[in-house]
Amino acid sequence: MAITLTLDYNNMMKEFIGEKEGFSPADFTAIEPELKAAFDTVQQNRGKGMQGWMDIIYDQENGIVQDIKETAAKIREKFEYFVVLGIGGSALGPTAVFQSLCHLHYNDLPKEKRGGPKFYVEDNVDPERMVALLDVIEPEKTCFNVITKSGATSETMAQYLVISEILKAKLGDKFADNIIATTDAKRGNLVKLVKEHGFKSFTILDGVGGRFSELSPVGLLPAAVLGIDISELLAGARAMDEHCKEADYKKNMGLMLAALQHVAMARGKNIGVMMPYTDSLKYIADWYAQLWAESLGKSVHKDGTPAFVGQTPVKSLGVTDQHSQVQLYAEGPFDKVVTFLAVKNYRKTVVIPEGCQDIPDIHFLSGHTMNELITAEQKATAYALTVANRLNYTITLEEVNAHSVGELLYLFEMQTAFAGELLNIDTYNQPGVENGKNATYALLGKSGYEAKKAELDSAPALRAEYII
Ligand code: PA5
Repeated sequence: MAITLTLDYNNMMKEFIGEKEGFSPADFTAIEPELKAAFDTVQQNRGKGMQGWMDIIYDQENGIVQDIKETAAKIREKFEYFVVLGIGGSALGPTAVFQSLCHLHYNDLPKEKRGGPKFYVEDNVDPERMVALLDVIEPEKTCFNVITKSGATSETMAQYLVISEILKAKLGDKFADNIIATTDAKRGNLVKLVKEHGFKSFTILDGVGGRFSELSPVGLLPAAVLGIDISELLAGARAMDEHCKEADYKKNMGLMLAALQHVAMARGKNIGVMMPYTDSLKYIADWYAQLWAESLGKSVHKDGTPAFVGQTPVKSLGVTDQHSQVQLYAEGPFDKVVTFLAVKNYRKTVVIPEGCQDIPDIHFLSGHTMNELITAEQKATAYALTVANRLNYTITLEEVNAHSVGELLYLFEMQTAFAGELLNIDTYNQPGVENGKNATYALLGKSGYEAKKAELDSAPALRAEYII
């Protein structure tokens, strides 16, 4: 099946957005050599280094998808709750796909309507949240999916320690039956625990980094447990991969999206707003925020020269945030690009009934559907931004389903990969996160971090006059 998404970037162009802010075809022609180089590098490095995420959408059909489906079927039968313990790329994807493809009040449905266990993703070490989780689940009836690529992330391993202690107290040696590990094949500590306790495990392959891992067992197992057709998710991603093999940027959505944002960033558009017009895609914007921010926010180019590039991603839900943020987007600084995610066919229809005949300001709504209303509001907001000379474009999904969500996830991964090449940075590292991690280790007295502790202790003392 071909791709079902469309990209409309008319509202990025001079004819629509005005001479000063708008782009012209010449802006893309001017960077054609860079676009060609970015395209070639990404395509030639398919499956190499940290670009394993391009291969897994094909390779996993070889036994892994089957294993995931069989494991998920057993979990659906045996457990009342399924809890993901993970953070960053190990949590945002499962949350995004859950919200996209399951009932919007899934956990509140009766069991026969849900069909699978209640679902929670614990991506923080807030003690209140951990206790709150334990108030609503029964650990002995819960399958905990511990997900960490590095197998070393403190937040996830702290959660593991809390949960495994509780499970051991309740289930003794059988506690291992309630834990599934998703991690690297060799590196990290989780794989050691897999060997020690015999947890069922799934592997995140070498070239698949956290934020590019949603289409690996990281995302596929939770999705399958929720009854989502993971073969369709992967088929959608493959369809998008085929599409993004087109060398002509004018016909390649991933490359064109990267080009649009590249030209925008070069003009100081440092904020990228993603505005889905459906609650189901709300957390796709969160997942994308990590992908875009952590991949592109870099201080150096590949050759080590200063870069200080990136674009701040912002999540904004349509129509909800029309009533909180759109004022800023329409009249504030000219520093943003708005990506609308529109839906052609919502999965449900709600007719607005006849009523309030004597109040014309309300009655005009009667006979329309909420579908018409939300669609009109998306178009109206795009229009309002356009006449205010604000850059925006729209990605439209025919419908939110497993295929189109697979397309969308992979499209954004391709856009990010191309954009990283255009910026000439390492898309796949995250050195800026390391210093904070190391400081946390030092503060908690982890061995090997004594020098960092000394560095923290020698920081200048805080001044009382700056504290109110
Ligand atoms: O994209 C990344 O690599 C990171 O954001 C990780 O997803 C995050 O730090 C969690 O890492 P891990 O899966 O190793 O626990």
